[in-house]
Amino acid sequence: MQRTLVLLKPDTVQRSLIGTLVSRFEQKGLKIAGLKMMNMTPALCDEHYSHMTSKPFYPAILSFMTCGPIVAIAIEGHDAVSVVRKMCGLTAESEWVSGTIRGDYARSIDNNLIHSSDSEETAKVEVARFFQDNELFTYTRSLNS
Ligand code: CMP
Repeated sequence: MQRTLVLLKPDTVQRSLIGTLVSRFEQKGLKIAGLKMMNMTPALCDEHYSHMTSKPFYPAILSFMTCGPIVAIAIEGHDAVSVVRKMCGLTAESEWVSGTIRGDYARSIDNNLIHSSDSEETAKVEVARFFQDNELFTYTRSLNS
């Protein structure tokens, strides 16, 4: 069982797509282990995108990710990192495929709705970056149908 981090970016909140996107993961059978709305501070953004701070488009990322609340979600499931990443879709607009979240809803590379961890190692770091231990929940779904 793996956990991965998803961030619903400010455009997801602005476009009232939180429920739609959370629902996709629930309908896939993935489990929500943690979920919270929060503001991404510039410091947190610098840390989260530390591999991109030297890119020419980083100021746009920083401005966008701090322009309004985001929703952080820890998602759990078999092979969750790769399953969630595939569900989100690729970064480049030319590679968006219908049936993926970005393919179905995103409007541009800058307003691409969602972030997900890109590897198991990154996922561990990213989940810990956004969630304290007592904000992550372990439970069975005995009422599942
Ligand atoms: P994300 O998958 O969250 O990771 C980094 C983000 O940088 C990416 O989504 C895009 O929203 C943003 N970005 C903006 N311009 C580019 C670009 N030219 N190449 C890659 N990412 C970009």
